Amino acid sequence: MKLKELINLSKKNLQQNKIKDSNIKIKLLIEHIFNIKKEQIILSYDNEIKKEKILEFNSLLDKLKNGVPIQYIINKQEFMGLHFYVNENVLIPQPDTETLVEEVIKYCNIIRKNNYETSSTNCKENNKKNYCKSKKIKILDLCTGSGIIGISLCKYLGNVETYASDINAKALDIARKNAEDNNVSIQFIHSDMFNNIQEKAFDIIVSNPPYIESGVIKKLSKEVQNEPKLALDGGRDGLRFYKIIAENAKEFLKQEGIIFLEIGYDQKEKVEKIFSNYNYYSNIKCIKDLSGNDRVIIIKK
Ligand SMILES: C[S@@+](CC[C@H](N)C(=O)[O-])C[C@H]1O[C@@H](n2cnc3c(N)ncnc32)[C@H](O)[C@@H]1O
Repeated sequence: MKLKELINLSKKNLQQNKIKDSNIKIKLLIEHIFNIKKEQIILSYDNEIKKEKILEFNSLLDKLKNGVPIQYIINKQEFMGLHFYVNENVLIPQPDTETLVEEVIKYCNIIRKNNYETSSTNCKENNKKNYCKSKKIKILDLCTGSGIIGISLCKYLGNVETYASDINAKALDIARKNAEDNNVSIQFIHSDMFNNIQEKAFDIIVSNPPYIESGVIKKLSKEVQNEPKLALDGGRDGLRFYKIIAENAKEFLKQEGIIFLEIGYDQKEKVEKIFSNYNYYSNIKCIKDLSGNDRVIIIKK
């Protein structure tokens, strides 16, 4: 069988099984199995495919038909222009989470600029060498999963002291691998929320916690249901983890430290209310994602 024939047959097969985005998924499978680039596929249409490769392809096609996300089959997903290894132990990185990371980057650039302006005046006054070196920003990525948030921040900010935690030891193994592959240094902590976090005085706590209501999970697509329940389930009202963060974050933040949280599109008012119940939080604001949905809540201590 030629490659073109294999592609056409499998496209039909996926469409009959109502699998969305069949074109893209088949291209990704071809790239993965034949170890070729997207642009080479069309040039290889007339290549004769060996029987064992057809068998391998068909077994992965069956996984797709059973709702296994393509990212778990090819073990990769891009996020913030970086490459991440993923498998069934971690949530698949979502484009909406880039809004969260971008907000943290914007904020850090502003505080660095302000620090620089203040310290350069002091530098002249004190005439001390190295006084102007910008201070490391200390970050905690809570519920890190595959590590995408902490790793992207290290990569794009540089000069940060980053800690990342998760309750799932298997997710932490993947996050460690991703940090190594992306050449960044992060301290990983196995912890149920704040329980095992020994460090204090963070400048920033950032988190994309599980936020789907328990009862809604079984109504989601087969693909989402193949992601770890631990990464999705935010308790009966979807707000369990925001309540834990509101209750505990103060103790782990510097004075004027900031919390950045991803939220569900309909959770703005509820999450804002949780934090406004505590008098030590202020300046609560919400940022929309690229689709215009409420996506990030920012809270100042
Ligand atoms: C929505 S996923 C986010 C993963 C990653 N940060 C991202 O944005 O793709 C939530 C993560 O929270 C972790 N988690 C669930 N319960 C937790 C708990 N009690 N303490 C710490 N982490 C928890 C899950 O294992 C999962 O990795």
